[in-house]
Amino acid sequence: MAKPKNAVTVPDIAARKGGTPIVCLTAYTTPMARLLDPHVDILLVGDSLGMVLYGLESTLPVTLDMMVNHGAAVVRGADHACVTVDLPFAAYQVSPAAAYRAGARVLAETGCDAVKLEGGVEMAETIRFLTQRSIPVMGHVGLKPQSVRAMGGYTVQGRGDKAARKIIADAKAIAEAGAFSMVVEGTMEPVARAITAAIDVPTIGIGASVACDGQVLVTDDIIGLFTEFTPRFVKRYADIGSDIEQAVRAFAEDVRARSFPGDEHCFGSKRGPKLISG
Ligand code: KIV
Repeated sequence: MAKPKNAVTVPDIAARKGGTPIVCLTAYTTPMARLLDPHVDILLVGDSLGMVLYGLESTLPVTLDMMVNHGAAVVRGADHACVTVDLPFAAYQVSPAAAYRAGARVLAETGCDAVKLEGGVEMAETIRFLTQRSIPVMGHVGLKPQSVRAMGGYTVQGRGDKAARKIIADAKAIAEAGAFSMVVEGTMEPVARAITAAIDVPTIGIGASVACDGQVLVTDDIIGLFTEFTPRFVKRYADIGSDIEQAVRAFAEDVRARSFPGDEHCFGSKRGPKLISG
């Protein structure tokens, strides 16, 4: 189904450089997409779903099928935001052609607006290949969760001059290659600030800098639904996990006390005529 005229498009996001900050949150399901869609510019179907929804230890086991299924679910719940879907680990790194096949499948089968992939200078050729063939790409530099093994953990990036220069070079390379925006994750504040000043496309920070052109967080982190690990850069806006626990405890008590279901939840009052005599 075609999106309404006021929907946020890829060129709209690219044009937001230096303007009103871009609001981006993750969504993995239709009901959550419906709730978030009116309030955000971008709905990101992040491969963080591997940890948040599936209880996996990292994003590495996430598959293209998982991203296609959740991407399509989010598109069904969104008629405003620009829906961007992560390409998972091993779906795009091996060659530009492999990346094209993965990106084209995601675009065609989900109806999303764009894909996101992780990497800097080494992914520039791939990003150019995709964008020149009409697959919009959001980049992702700094802390790259798909490189957790190579990094030896989820460590803040850009400490020291050499590391800072490397991330800035990564950001410049993928901007030049055609990325319409990029996530800057887990990066020293001055480096994220310098990247934002150095490139013409919007930066979307997570654990980066308020100077970025927008911010993204994992929705389940900010509403207290995923509490196994809360990084320093997360701000908690609600405690939905506790609300769920309270509701479930109350339901269990009602069932055990036979105070649920009440007459109002049943078809035919217990004070009404007996259906079975005996
Ligand atoms: O997978 C994800 O949710 C992400 C964001 C945290 C940027 O890549």
